[in-house]
Amino acid sequence: MIRAIFHWHAFVEIQGEDFSIFIDPFISGNPKVDISLEDATNHSLLKYIVLTHGHSDHLGDTVDIAKANPDLLTIATFELAQYLMNVEGLKNVHAMHIGGAADFGDFWLKYTPAVHGWWIWDLNSWYTTVAWWVLLEVNGKYIYHAGDTALTYDMKLLQDYNIDLAFLPIGDNFTMGLDDAVKAVELVKPKIVVPIHYNTWPIISADEWEFARKVMLEGVAKPKILNPWDEVVL
Ligand code: NI
Ligand code: MN
Repeated sequence: MIRAIFHWHAFVEIQGEDFSIFIDPFISGNPKVDISLEDATNHSLLKYIVLTHGHSDHLGDTVDIAKANPDLLTIATFELAQYLMNVEGLKNVHAMHIGGAADFGDFWLKYTPAVHGWWIWDLNSWYTTVAWWVLLEVNGKYIYHAGDTALTYDMKLLQDYNIDLAFLPIGDNFTMGLDDAVKAVELVKPKIVVPIHYNTWPIISADEWEFARKVMLEGVAKPKILNPWDEVVL
């Protein structure tokens, strides 16, 4: 049994029998988050952090959580991994890149290209990369976390994976908005779709029920609106 728990914004937790993966653990500054940094840091199942890119609403509290849990593995693209190791001092970081997949034992993960950007600057270097989507396979179930992205026709390639559960941004302004996300559902054809990255701040306001209604009319996927701490069980 896989539990996909929504902690708000883009922070999703994928929980297996004896491990848990945080995707984009944004806690400090997340006005609707349902878990404290202390509880996240002391989470007994937590073994992995998977990042979609380095923007602060996605990198979130990764550094603090990882430093308090030396065995925890953080997974990021090469450039973000360099930043985490060289600037933030994390030791246990797995670098990969877009188009590449890796098997971590508990799950399989592929990074695929999102349409979005990211950079960070410290006094010595620039760290920059495009953003990416996270495609996870856990116990035979495929989960797609789109992170921050525009709508792109590449999403159609994901149909081949028969995605069980997709997390798509709908908040507009920084990512695709509601109507583009409905088109994304048509391209990806997931069994279940959960809207994310909306109503955290006024600038990404969206009506999640309108999204759900449009997805229902489209008839491709089953929409699920999750409040913080709600979950989808696969
Ligand atoms: Ni971003
Ligand atoms: Mn974002």
